[in-house]
Amino acid sequence: MHYLIQPAAIGDADVTVPGDKSVSHRAVMLGSIAEGVTEISGFLAGEDCLATMSAFRNMGVTIERPADTQLVVHGAGLRGMRAPGGDLDLGNSGTAMRLLAGVLAGQDFAATLTGDASLTGRPMQRVITPLTRMGAEIASRDGKPPLRIRGNPQLAGIDYTLPMASAQVKSAILLAGLYAQGRTTVTEPAVTRDHTERMLRAMGVPVSTRDGRISLEGPARLKAAAVQVPADLSSAAFLILAALLASDADILISNVGVNPTRTGVLDILQAMGGAITLESRRTLGEEPVANIRVRSSKLRGIDVDPCLVSLAIDEFPVLFVAAGAARGSTRFTGIGELRVKESDRIAAMATGLRALGIRVEESDDGAIVHGGRFSAGKVQSFGDHRIAMSLAVAGTVAEGAVTVHDVAAVETSFPGFEACLASVGANIRRVGEESA
Ligand code: S3P
Repeated sequence: MHYLIQPAAIGDADVTVPGDKSVSHRAVMLGSIAEGVTEISGFLAGEDCLATMSAFRNMGVTIERPADTQLVVHGAGLRGMRAPGGDLDLGNSGTAMRLLAGVLAGQDFAATLTGDASLTGRPMQRVITPLTRMGAEIASRDGKPPLRIRGNPQLAGIDYTLPMASAQVKSAILLAGLYAQGRTTVTEPAVTRDHTERMLRAMGVPVSTRDGRISLEGPARLKAAAVQVPADLSSAAFLILAALLASDADILISNVGVNPTRTGVLDILQAMGGAITLESRRTLGEEPVANIRVRSSKLRGIDVDPCLVSLAIDEFPVLFVAAGAARGSTRFTGIGELRVKESDRIAAMATGLRALGIRVEESDDGAIVHGGRFSAGKVQSFGDHRIAMSLAVAGTVAEGAVTVHDVAAVETSFPGFEACLASVGANIRRVGEESA
């Protein structure tokens, strides 16, 4: 399956994008181990979050789905789940695997976590080390999935300093900490998304955050609480860039999560000259939201502040496209984590942009993108949803047709992406089964 994008004018429009992936995963997980019924609205019906839902159903949790984006989770309590019937297949989702590892660490049964070709190539030692130190037994294939986790109902709290900025690892340790005796503290080298902390507090677990140290006391029981999932800023980012690059567009994206641990992409695009404003700021449950207005802008190259990397970690593919269209050069530094995402995103974007005529210099943990004009061309997604969507956005302002191969993975995070991009004026078609 591939996308064919022909240049077309993006115009004025009001749009919405699907629910936040990180919040949707957490709502299912915390709802499943809480006491009581958690109603989730705005759930992301993408493959990643559906894999999480299936995994918990598989461990005996009753989860109803009265509508596509609505779930009713009948919490089993901390200790109410049972061993799954077979392996838990988490598809493409690193978040599902790493956070679930934290939950499984405290169970009185064993389970095996596996996934697709991308996920089974991703590093898991980062969760194995702290969870093992807390008392779980975890077997892996040299630090990679499948993970065989034998839970330990007598986990001990730890004080752990993360070697890398990772909300997934932080969350895995905090979730295991719910089951552990005593205090669990995670120190992070840079601020990462705090959805787990916010949702735990909403479910009655005191979580303290001070000077980069996040702590909770275990064992801690959760009380079910409704979760309203905001629209995903990481998905909105593709629309935001399409509008910025257009010659005369003004679009409004409503109800988008603007948690300050996620908004690095807005800071970076604004520093590049992007006209982006937040309107009607409010809170939805625990999360800040706003409507995002974007007007076409002339972008200029910048040195991206490395302090913003953990606050924009999933938006670098689309930021590479912004850099490719900007006047002058953009320097990215401190982005080595991108090499262990759903694909090696530095290499994937460098390859894609070069195929569209843009000069990119690559280093181990950075890149310099020399802005220019995108030519027509054929590019690869490397099976990565965000690479596919980023290159599709480049196609909206290319000199001719752009084909993006291997786009099935878009379903993991942004079902309806093509229709959404088309609704603002893009000429995008999804063609065929696989023809890459
Ligand atoms: C996520 C954290 C990030 C991000 C991922 C979602 C989460 O990963 O890339 O898409 O929901 O916690 P890391 O924490 O590994 O950087």
